[in-house]
Amino acid sequence: MYMHARTLPDKMMRFLANIFGAYKLRALVIVLAVSSIYLYVFPSPTLVYIAVVLLHAGLGTIAGIFLVVKLRGIFSLRAFQDNSGWLLIFFGALVGTALFFIGTSRPQWNWMYAHIALSFAGVAVLASRWAGRKGWMAKGHWRPAIRVALFLGLAAACGLGGWKIREGLWLRAYQIVNPSTPPASMEGEGDGPDGPFFPSSAQTANQEKIPGKYFMESNACERCHRDIYRQWYSSVHHFSSFNNQWYRKSIEYMQDVVGVKPSKWCAGCHDPSTADYLIPRSSRL
Ligand code: HEC
Ligand code: HEC
Repeated sequence: MYMHARTLPDKMMRFLANIFGAYKLRALVIVLAVSSIYLYVFPSPTLVYIAVVLLHAGLGTIAGIFLVVKLRGIFSLRAFQDNSGWLLIFFGALVGTALFFIGTSRPQWNWMYAHIALSFAGVAVLASRWAGRKGWMAKGHWRPAIRVALFLGLAAACGLGGWKIREGLWLRAYQIVNPSTPPASMEGEGDGPDGPFFPSSAQTANQEKIPGKYFMESNACERCHRDIYRQWYSSVHHFSSFNNQWYRKSIEYMQDVVGVKPSKWCAGCHDPSTADYLIPRSSRL
């Protein structure tokens, strides 16, 4: 019968071509591009973000397999213009695969940028080709070249815009800036008399409390930040709280003379782990 007449390699290629059809690859590239915009522009330490990282890496792997199947076509010189977009994406995917192994921490960011730039340039060239096939600036000697340049320029502009948003939203979020002048009266400290830490000038995001444990277990940071931890340990910052006898005596004297509440002001800087409640006299160290 017809089917039996085909050789096994022939059948396998047909099978692969069916699974790795061009449309599926295109859909994958679109999802990868959209997820990469989210990953680059809105980084956040959330589960959703991690899920998208894994999705991007997983779909990227699948798209990589598609590309390998397409490889012979991509590298054919005859259709260089048709394939240049896929070629760029292929090299972007190669760098992306390398990122699996070298990671994307700060020292590797140049590789990550290379991955983004190659892949986006590829998507821009493919989009330009698509627009050309729809008849937009398709004819003439220069117009197709100008079309490609326009799409690449648009991709670069989007990249620049994304970079601006990332710098503004992410890198500048949670920056701690000291006020240029101290408040004129106690009411001006921190979040004011209604704040949870008043009269301390300590402030937290959304006025939420940080567990005291966080400040008590500085050596928890040592595991990863050994050098910084040692610098801190051998500095006077290590003696900023009740382990400093001058401070301790000052607070004890102060609590005897003016009561407990004002000592919360000192606690905002010296012992934040106790600043979220009034220090009861009975628990004095
Ligand atoms: C499990 C490992 C780990 C532990 C534990 C850890 N960190 Fe980090 N920390 C990191 C990593 C990774 C980075 C990001 C480094 C990078 O982006 O290059 C980082 C970055 C930071 C930064 C930003 C540094 C910069 O230059 O931008 C600060 C501040 C920081 N950590 C403070 C702490 C404190 C305080 C603790 C203890 C409560 C702590 N870390 C515990 C792994 C850790
Ligand atoms: C705005 C933050 C802040 C507040 C509020 C604050 N301190 Fe300090 N305190 C510091 C800093 C920073 C130093 C270290 C200054 C230096 O060494 O030059 C320090 C140093 C000290 C020292 C000297 C410790 C030593 O070993 O030399 C004592 C004692 C002290 N503070 C007591 C207090 C008392 C009591 C209060 C409350 C009435 C208070 N501080 C409020 C930031 C603060």
